[in-house]
Amino acid sequence: MVEVEIDGRKVSVQEGSMVMDAANKLDIYVPHFCYHKRLSIAANCRMCLVEIEKAPKPMPACATPVTQGMIVHTASERAKQAQKGVMEFLLINHPLDCPICDQGGECQLQDLAVGYGGSASRFAEPKRVVFHKGLGPLISAEEMTRCIHCTRCVRFGQEIAGIMELGMAGRGEHSEILSFVDKTVDSEISGNMIDLCPVGALTSKPFRYAARTWELSRRKSVSPHDSLGANLIVQVKNQRVLRVVPLENEAVNDCWISDRDRFSYEGLYAADRLLRPMLKQGGQWREVDWSDALASVANALNNVKAQHGADAIGALAAPGSTAEELFLLGRLVRALGSDNIDFRLRQSDFSADGRRAGAPHLGMPIADIDRLDRLLLIGAFLRKDHPLLAARVRHAVKRGCKVSLVQATDDELLMPVAHKAIVAPSAWVAELAQIATAVAQIKGIAAPVVGGEASERARAIADSLCTGQAAAVLLGNAAEQSPHAAQLHVWAQWIAQATGARFGVLGAGANSVGGYLVGAVPDQGGMNARVMVEQPRRAYLLWNMEPEFDTANPAATMNALAAADTVIVPVTGVTELPAGRERAPPFLTSGCIPDCSSSPPWPLPRPPVPSWPPPTSSSATGASTRSTRTAPSWTRWR
Ligand code: SF4
Ligand code: FES
Repeated sequence: MVEVEIDGRKVSVQEGSMVMDAANKLDIYVPHFCYHKRLSIAANCRMCLVEIEKAPKPMPACATPVTQGMIVHTASERAKQAQKGVMEFLLINHPLDCPICDQGGECQLQDLAVGYGGSASRFAEPKRVVFHKGLGPLISAEEMTRCIHCTRCVRFGQEIAGIMELGMAGRGEHSEILSFVDKTVDSEISGNMIDLCPVGALTSKPFRYAARTWELSRRKSVSPHDSLGANLIVQVKNQRVLRVVPLENEAVNDCWISDRDRFSYEGLYAADRLLRPMLKQGGQWREVDWSDALASVANALNNVKAQHGADAIGALAAPGSTAEELFLLGRLVRALGSDNIDFRLRQSDFSADGRRAGAPHLGMPIADIDRLDRLLLIGAFLRKDHPLLAARVRHAVKRGCKVSLVQATDDELLMPVAHKAIVAPSAWVAELAQIATAVAQIKGIAAPVVGGEASERARAIADSLCTGQAAAVLLGNAAEQSPHAAQLHVWAQWIAQATGARFGVLGAGANSVGGYLVGAVPDQGGMNARVMVEQPRRAYLLWNMEPEFDTANPAATMNALAAADTVIVPVTGVTELPAGRERAPPFLTSGCIPDCSSSPPWPLPRPPVPSWPPPTSSSATGASTRSTRTAPSWTRWR
């Protein structure tokens, strides 16, 4: 540790820390633009100049390492004079369009100009003009004259999103932030550049000119779009959501959100969204009031129960529903006497049900992903399914983590991948069996299968896992939705246990864990989502789902709905349903998931013994899965 003195106060910080870190530790604000705690140091704005005793000139606090006994003044006459000088340079070319700038009221330059800017400019020459840029439908770069070249947006692309979509061209006064020729910014987390831009150069296209920041009221929320549960601030004006921005939470989403978290609020105001309850009677849709709608729903459900029994009622809910919704749906269905409720709409293998205690979850705090040094990802389209988790894995890779993939497609993860097994989903079980065999050989333990040969590729993945100090094996959404999901669980868990890695499951929706905890799954012999579709019910309650898109077998689902007497659909948009169905109106809710990071690891599932040898695969790699192995003994792994 190194002890330094800042503005008369002493503080100890790690050797190699910057003066800015020491000031932050003391809660001393040093004005800055290019510095950001999650980005590398660029030191190109010079706004953070401070006076350091014995230094011949002011030094940038963000880029000056502390030394033992260093004495720093952040607000001395000399420091202030330097900061004011930098501000004068920054304002030379910055347009005076604050009254019509979307950043007005939350602009770092505007705020700091109040404290460090002059009341009049000494610059009489014309200001430079920078032509606007087309960066796509989400980020507006219409006023690039406002750019102060802090390069935060450039560094975000390179360091967090994993792809450099913006860069700085030119020198000095001719510097410009550009995308590559005719290219838009397409990263799945690109919207964070809007938050990072300290001026109004990059702004949100959907939000442009919709409101001033001081007109917005703020509500905390949680993203419903994936199982990460990113913390959000929803900004509202006149009962209308106008903007969604991140709520910083280092344990979950850090200070980022994905583009779908940020921009999907636009769907709330889609033209085809239901706003009032509607009933279809005599082939005609008609708007009704809430009491009529609820009475009709109650009548319909009671009639089905009276005529066909409570078991004829089934409820299917999206995993992105809130815990409260899932809990109340379970209460409703069970009060009617049915246990047919499920939220695992895309799952097709339910053979682990009844053998598993607890809910499948990540198996570790989200923030621990950054600290992994080995990771095996199975069946995960990470950038699409969990964009912010992909950013965490990218961060871990930068720190030396070796990632191995068992996947069906060779997706671009925007990070170096150490080992890849790109095989058909039907060959994933066999691939894991080979990795398990290789792990057993390396560890000198009994192999789960006898007589199996591990491929070179499987051995490399096993080697990688066995040499890690902080390893994890994670099952992605595609693995969870595989027809062999239970077998994949068992193999993945065996590999994790044998290598000392942590095992986890990446849930499909915001409440993939909460759905289990609040009883949105059958627990007294009721039907799961697959059986409810294969054995059509007379009445369905569909919660927050679109049956033609959200289920494992959309055709069978639509047929089952067409054959039902009653379908009740609280949705946020109009869904084309078979004729003669009743429907209820939308409910707009905020996302909410329970925190399960401290839950104990859930016990090993005990699915039925898988068929062996596994089916021959004609995978892209040409690896044969034929084997003379015998069936594994599952009891060994309990
Ligand atoms: S566009 Fe904004 S974030 Fe990017 S360099 Fe310019 S001021 Fe910085
Ligand atoms: S914040 Fe230190 S140079 Fe920009």
